[in-house]
Parts: sequence; structure tokens; C-alpha cells
Amino acid sequence: MLFLHAALVAVAAGRGSGDNPTDGFEKVELADGDFMVQSPYNVPESQRFRYRDGVRTFWVYKTDMPFNTAIHTNPRSEAMIRGHEYSSGVWQFEGDGYVPAGTSGASVMQIHTAGEGSAAHETVLMLHVYDGVLRFYNGAAVQRSIYDRWFQLNIVHDVAASTVAVYVDGRRSRAVHKASGAFLNSLCSTMTQQRLTDLAIIALESGLLDKIEYEDIIEEFISRNTKRMKLFKASVFAGTALRRRFGASVIPGESYYFKFGVYMQHQDQSSCMESRWANVTLYTKQ
Ligand SMILES: *[C@@H]1O[C@H](CO)[C@@H](O)[C@H](O)[C@H]1NC(C)=O
Repeated sequence: MLFLHAALVAVAAGRGSGDNPTDGFEKVELADGDFMVQSPYNVPESQRFRYRDGVRTFWVYKTDMPFNTAIHTNPRSEAMIRGHEYSSGVWQFEGDGYVPAGTSGASVMQIHTAGEGSAAHETVLMLHVYDGVLRFYNGAAVQRSIYDRWFQLNIVHDVAASTVAVYVDGRRSRAVHKASGAFLNSLCSTMTQQRLTDLAIIALESGLLDKIEYEDIIEEFISRNTKRMKLFKASVFAGTALRRRFGASVIPGESYYFKFGVYMQHQDQSSCMESRWANVTLYTKQ
């Protein structure tokens, strides 16, 4: 629990103080080629993505195809930041984002896992938009009114501490997401994933963190049901248990990258989903 304590202290110190989230970080140089766009395979990229005057605009329709024929995921138009995958240290995404009114049921930002040790569909963070509210997955609200304005988004991922802090317009979100293990986003039911996400958030929000071993609760929850056990064995269970025993940095092949744009989710989808991004910058500190 030592790492978690350190993370909470940092949260308390940063809250409300108006600190610049990038203080103490080093900028990572990004080239245009480091942004790899994934868009529906059956239409030209230019019909779902535009890069003009420094603004990347992503949009998809509810009826669109996945980004290639080998997968059956929901439609997306997203850019992944490639060539800067990380497996240790503290990494920060910064960008100016814009979500036009009407867009709903879409993820606009993800921290995705990469590498051999991970299943293809794991994330440690997704920010979804439902009816103008930016949320952690389908759960806690990060920002209650997100439509039709530029907002600055900063996301700080501390790999060793397994924490993700989200700032909107320089203000740290009250809800803090504990990136405990990895949450599946489409291999198994959204409901199960959501319960786990909520559990992690509740643990932090209620200040119970040093009183309960909530990772044990998650493991207990999984182990009571054989199907859950199978689904989660290779991901959450292994991730959480290994991380606790050996520390995050030694999980073989586990690394992360940021991606942003629009990725349709499983409820309340609008017929068209769109987000725009400018000034995307990556920072790190070891
Ligand atoms: C991008 O950054 C520049 C310089 O800070 C700023 O003037 C501009 O408004 C930003 N763009 C958006 C869309 O926020």
C-alpha cells in the first residue's frame, strides 16, 4: 500500500492549488508520423479524419465498420501516439479538445496497453462522453459540461503507482481513477468492467484506501464466478496480482500508449460522433 499512499498524498497536495500539471515534466518531441490514425476500413481515411490548421478532427457514424477486417470492435476514428510506448516512469498527455454538442456514447481518450503481455483490448483509462458529460468509462463524471468549447485536457499516468490523474482546464478531477490492473473494454461485459471501475473509484473517493485491500475484493469478486475467472485470468487478475507481488515495471511486455479521437461505446450512441484536438503534447518524468 506504500505506493498508493504516496499517490494520495500527491493528490491532496495538488488539489485546488492551481499548479501547472506539466511542472517538473520534460516535453517529448512528437513528429506528425507519430500519430497513427485508425479509421473505418471501408471508407477513405479522409472521410473520417481531417488535419487542418493544427486541428485534428475525428468522426465516425454509428453504422461504420471497424478499422480493419480482422477485428470486430466498434467503429472508431482515432490517432494512437506510436513510437513512445512506455512501461515505467510518469507520462503525461496534454491536448486541447473539443466535442461538438450531439456526440454521445463515444470514448474520446484512452490509455491503451500494448505489448506481448497484454490482451489486445485492455485499457487503463477511457474517457467517455455521454450527453455532454465527460466520464471515467461509464462511471464517475470528470467534467459535467464538455460540449461546444475548447478545453485543455491533461492526463498523468504514474506507472509504478498505477494511478491516472485527469485535469480539465488545469483543474484536477475530484474523482481519481485507480488504474488497478487493466479494465477490459470490449472482450467481456461492460457491466462487469463498470463495477470494477466504480469499485476502484469508490475506494479512493471514500478515503478507505488504507483500510481495505480492495484489490483482494476485486480478486474475490472475480473468483466467485468461473466465467469471470476465465475472462479475467489473463488480464485483471494476472495484472493485479503480478503488480502487487513484483511491481508494475517487471510485468513482461506491459506497456502503454495514449490514443484520442472517437471510439463508439455500447450505450447512448449518437448517429455521428466527433472530437477535435489541437496542441497535443507528450511529457514524461522518470
Ligand atoms: C493551441 O495553442 C496555442 C498557443 O498556446 C493557442 O493560442 C491556441 O488557442 C491553442 N489551440 C486551441 C484550439 O486551443
